[in-house]
Amino acid sequence: MGKFSTYRYLELKDDSPTPHINVRSRTIKQPRRLKKIFILLVIAVLFVTYFLGLFAGQSQWLDGIAKSLGYQSVNHYAVIIDAGSSGSRVLAYKFRVPFTVFGQANLDLVEEYFEQSKPGLSSYADDPAKGADTIVQLIKKAEFLIPAEKRRTTPLIVRATAGLRLLPKDKAHQLLVEVSKAISTLGYDVGPNGVEIMDGSDEGIFIWYTLNLLHNLMDGETMAALDLGGGSTQITYQLGDGDSKLFPVSDQYVVPAGGNNITLYTHSYLNLGLLAARYGVFSMEANNNTTTEFTSVCVDPIVQKEPWTYGNKQYVISGARRQGLKREAVYNLCHNAVVKYLKRTMDWEPARAPRGSVAAMSYFYDVAADAGIIDVMKGGTVSLSQYRTSAVRACSASNVEQPWACIDLVYVLTLLQDGYKMKDNDPVSLFKKVNGHEVSWALGLAYTTVMNRIAVMVEV
Ligand SMILES: *[C@@H]1O[C@H](CO)[C@@H](O)[C@H](O)[C@H]1NC(C)=O
Ligand SMILES: *[C@@H]1O[C@H](CO)[C@@H](O)[C@H](O)[C@H]1NC(C)=O
Ligand SMILES: *[C@@H]1O[C@H](CO)[C@@H](O)[C@H](O)[C@H]1NC(C)=O
Repeated sequence: MGKFSTYRYLELKDDSPTPHINVRSRTIKQPRRLKKIFILLVIAVLFVTYFLGLFAGQSQWLDGIAKSLGYQSVNHYAVIIDAGSSGSRVLAYKFRVPFTVFGQANLDLVEEYFEQSKPGLSSYADDPAKGADTIVQLIKKAEFLIPAEKRRTTPLIVRATAGLRLLPKDKAHQLLVEVSKAISTLGYDVGPNGVEIMDGSDEGIFIWYTLNLLHNLMDGETMAALDLGGGSTQITYQLGDGDSKLFPVSDQYVVPAGGNNITLYTHSYLNLGLLAARYGVFSMEANNNTTTEFTSVCVDPIVQKEPWTYGNKQYVISGARRQGLKREAVYNLCHNAVVKYLKRTMDWEPARAPRGSVAAMSYFYDVAADAGIIDVMKGGTVSLSQYRTSAVRACSASNVEQPWACIDLVYVLTLLQDGYKMKDNDPVSLFKKVNGHEVSWALGLAYTTVMNRIAVMVEV
């Protein structure tokens, strides 16, 4: 339970001897002659690839030949529900165990299904049965991907994040109970820990895994993963030798990566998700915890009594008056307010910028796309100064279509600059998809769960 539960999958994987080979030798019954031809081909291919310096590509070569000789691949499936604060998502995966003779145990991601619904599960705090039904509907949408005869052995995992972490304990518990009840009838394998509130550290580690798996970087220089949800935000990266003493021990995790054990630093900040930060800044400015009417320096005065829902409650937001203020001055007022909220909310402040190249997902991406800094389909790389230029512009643009553009851009910049200590020219690569796959912690969780199951199957 808690901190180490899901992460244990990663460790188990490392203890097991290259699982997929054993799985294969059990399930494949091929005529001897074919096997002989195959071995000869393997030798020929290895010979050729060795001399071409293409050794790294061996698994694909072998896999292609194995397939043409009629070796059936074994498929594994996993269904994950990401019950986030701003919406629920289903991510269903089909994995294949590729044929390899030696080397790292691995899985190929063959197919993926993604669908979401709004609002998030936490919005159903007063009607948990209805909330549970939104989850069931999502799972049913993903049904087509998982063959009926595979469902009983397909893990179905529900993980709630900041939305439920921020609810009163009994309300969150009631939601989880209803969800467990509702999904138990769907015919999937829901384990004893199938429905839980996920630890922020797991969220960080699994999205780091997803990012680096999809970029094929597990063996080399890994990327830092920055995630920004509605309620919380996570930062995760690999520590170098000697970095360990600069970070809290409770934020450090040893995980297997590409045949080695590496140390990750991960920290999850509650109430520093994009929507939570908006609310935090507005209510800090109001200095009145009973009001539902906010006036903010981060909102243009053309916006008056704009309705806004947060945490199941209705608010109205207006822009503060700004007679004669220059562009930079408006930006500075908002930045000062956001810095004040950030510093009082961060429970730990790192002393220096993340190591390695930095990748950012979720709202980091959406905010940049809405501002037109990146192409909404392709993503791209932006520097902190580009975020700032955009923020300065948005804070003095009377744009009623995007009333939160100023506060959101200022918040993203402030988190990176004042929170994470990144510099003006530091590049941030923004991803939604890599090779056509959603960059979500759900893939990291699905991957390690399936790997762990294969390992257990081999041991039995
Ligand atoms: C990684 O750590 C695990 C658990 O402590 C250990 O069993 C394993 O041998 C280590 N692997 C390497 C490559 O050091
Ligand atoms: C609101 O603020 C008052 C005075 O600061 C405090 O006593 C009270 O507990 C607060 N209420 C809530 C719901 O935070
Ligand atoms: C807080 O807001 C409420 C509702 O708008 C208002 O009645 C009350 O006077 C405000 N309190 C202070 C101290 O401004």
